[in-house]
Amino acid sequence: MPKKEKRILFIGDIIGEVGRNTVRKVLPGIKKRYKIDYVIANGEHLSARVGVEVEKLREMQAVGVDFFTTGNHVWREAGFEKEIGRKNMPIVRPANFLEKKPGHGFRIISTPIGKILIINLLGREGIKEKVTNPFKKADAILASQKDYDFVVVDFHAEMTSEKVAMGYHLDSHVAAVFGTHTHVPTADVRILPGGTAFVSDVGMTGPLNSVLGVKSEIIVERFLSGTGGKFEVSGDLPGVMNAVLLTLDGNNKAIDIKRIDRVVKN
Ligand SMILES: [Fe+2]
Ligand SMILES: [Fe+2]
Repeated sequence: MPKKEKRILFIGDIIGEVGRNTVRKVLPGIKKRYKIDYVIANGEHLSARVGVEVEKLREMQAVGVDFFTTGNHVWREAGFEKEIGRKNMPIVRPANFLEKKPGHGFRIISTPIGKILIINLLGREGIKEKVTNPFKKADAILASQKDYDFVVVDFHAEMTSEKVAMGYHLDSHVAAVFGTHTHVPTADVRILPGGTAFVSDVGMTGPLNSVLGVKSEIIVERFLSGTGGKFEVSGDLPGVMNAVLLTLDGNNKAIDIKRIDRVVKN
């Protein structure tokens, strides 16, 4: 009997209440329709503001998200540095912070579709956080690990050139490189020549009529006059969910990657 295909959904940065409600509304139906085996989401804005709160992470687990990656905003919510280190917390933070940080930059997770090595890396171009070379860090992690069936990478980076370059760097070594951080979904989903599935940016899951999740009037004023006040996550509907669906064959080789985007009006 041929081995079963595996389907993994990767959801772009879930932002605040609108993002969480959108996931709650659309994820169960998507899981059923596409027979999804495992769901990973970038959760760096899971809290009501920016950052991660365990309670919100649990809420998203309850509606079907299995594991979370993060990015530059992972430490914004006071207290999460303590929580992330707790046993079996289903989350990774970027592996290449210069300073020593709690939690894990990669994890091998035993799932019904095999052992998945999930790696989270932060880009260097246009990112304030101090990080080491993400390309070399990816190499070091892959060289240090053996006990897995396939690898997925969340490369949380600003610049498309850095993300595309990471795709080629890891091509044939990992099942997928999912770009995140810009919150703007890109149309370049494809399988690279060596067999790695790639997208420059998955996008975001949050308020559609906003500037990357933040109230548009605040950001427009910032560009107009240099002021505009404190960033405030928009609570307006509709909500959008940007995601990509990765399909692997029975031998863990990527055979398809496609966008799954939904807008929820109420
Ligand atoms: Fe983000
Ligand atoms: Fe980010």
